[in-house]
Amino acid sequence: MAYTLPALPYGYDALEPHFDEETMRIHHTKHHQTYVTNINAALKDNNELSTLDVQDLMTRFNDVPADKKPVVRNHGGGHANHSFFWKNLTPNNTALADGPLKSAIEKAFGSYEAFQQAFEKAATSVFGSGWAWLILKDGALKVVTTANQDSPLMGESVVGASAGYPIIGLDVWEHAYYLKYRNVRPDYIKAYWKVVNWEYAIERYKEGSS
Ligand SMILES: [Fe+2]
Repeated sequence: MAYTLPALPYGYDALEPHFDEETMRIHHTKHHQTYVTNINAALKDNNELSTLDVQDLMTRFNDVPADKKPVVRNHGGGHANHSFFWKNLTPNNTALADGPLKSAIEKAFGSYEAFQQAFEKAATSVFGSGWAWLILKDGALKVVTTANQDSPLMGESVVGASAGYPIIGLDVWEHAYYLKYRNVRPDYIKAYWKVVNWEYAIERYKEGSS
C-alpha cells in the first residue's frame, strides 16, 4: 500500500477565472505529487503507518517514530492538506446555506461578514508559507493558521492552539497563487470566497460535531 495522488473532482480550468488553470495543474501534478512521492519513500518500510488514511496519519502524529517525524510533518502534512484542499474547492460555489454551520459561525464571530474578515486577516498574516483554517475545537469554531504543511489534525503538541478539526482551509503558499496574483496575496484570498465548497464544509462540520 502506498499513498496516491487523488484525482481532482473538477477540471484544471474549472475554477477560472478565480484560480487559474496553470496554477491548478502545477499545484496538483507537481507540488501535491511531490508530497505523495516523498511520504511514500519515507514510509516504504513501515506498513503500520503507510496503510493509514492520511488524515489518520495526521491524528496519530505523536506515534510516528522520531526519525520519521520531519518527513511526515512536511510531506505527510502536504499530502493531507492538499487532499483536503481540492475537496474544499468547487466550480459550483454558492452562499453558505442557513443551518447548523452558519449558526455556529454567527455565534462564534458575531456575523458571517465578521467571520470572513477574521479569516482574511489570518490568511494575510501568515508569514512565509502556511495555511489559514476554520476549525472545530471542543464544539466551537475558530480561525487559526499553521506554518508550512502543519495540519490542525496533528494536535496541540505540534500546532498548539491551532489544533482542531478542519472545516475549511486555504493554502497561502506562494505556489498557490503567484502565477496569477503575483505578490498580492489579499486578492487571492478574496477570490477564495468565489470557489469555496460550502456543501463540503457543512459535511465536515457534521462529521466533526458527531
Ligand atoms: Fe499547496
